[in-house]
Amino acid sequence: MGYFITFEGVEGSGKSTQIRFLADELISRNLATTLTREPGGCPIADQIRAILLDADNSAMSAMSELMLYAAARAQHVNEVVAPALADGNIVLCDRFCDATVAYQSYGRGLDRAVIDTLNKHACSGISPDLTILIDCDPQVGLARARRRIELSSGPREERFELETVAFHQRVRSGYNNLAKTEPQRFVIIDGADTIENIASKIRDAVLSRIPEGIRAIR
Ligand code: TMP
Repeated sequence: MGYFITFEGVEGSGKSTQIRFLADELISRNLATTLTREPGGCPIADQIRAILLDADNSAMSAMSELMLYAAARAQHVNEVVAPALADGNIVLCDRFCDATVAYQSYGRGLDRAVIDTLNKHACSGISPDLTILIDCDPQVGLARARRRIELSSGPREERFELETVAFHQRVRSGYNNLAKTEPQRFVIIDGADTIENIASKIRDAVLSRIPEGIRAIR
């Protein structure tokens, strides 16, 4: 069995940059590494992602949003995460179940029990061994995320960037509450630090935790 690491944080926290740095570091150490993300990570889940993040879909109900995240996750776990872990890889996933609790429960106010049940069914028994939470002031993160969207030539994935700062504050406190309930799984990194310092803290946290037996790159 491999080792499952997830990255979480509010919009513009820098997690996608940092997860790529970590993937490069692990690959340079000849450790078999699968880098993936949610929502998405495989063709069917990527199509669900496009629906979820399209700003034109402002009429989407909170429950339908939740179920689309769960559907994307069920497909992604089955097609990508579970096989890669079974093959002895380190799997790095940009967002996972904690995002659903932070965004759909703390952010949208949906019933936590419903979310936990859907997550349980979508994950078929798989849960992260380690979660890196990059804690960031939503005002700072949102400004960064909106700048990135303006510069991007791809699809405008901005449905969540258009939410209020108060929504993103609830998401942030949701993440911090989750981290408090599972301190052994979460490592909280201060997103206000420099990119280099954040990368080195993440590298140290990961290298001190990954178990023996991760397979080498073939
Ligand atoms: P990304 O910007 O990190 O790619 O994530 C896409 C958006 O989807 C982001 O705004 C957070 C949101 N999201 C949820 O609301 N629930 C979830 O379960 C996941 C995985 C992401």
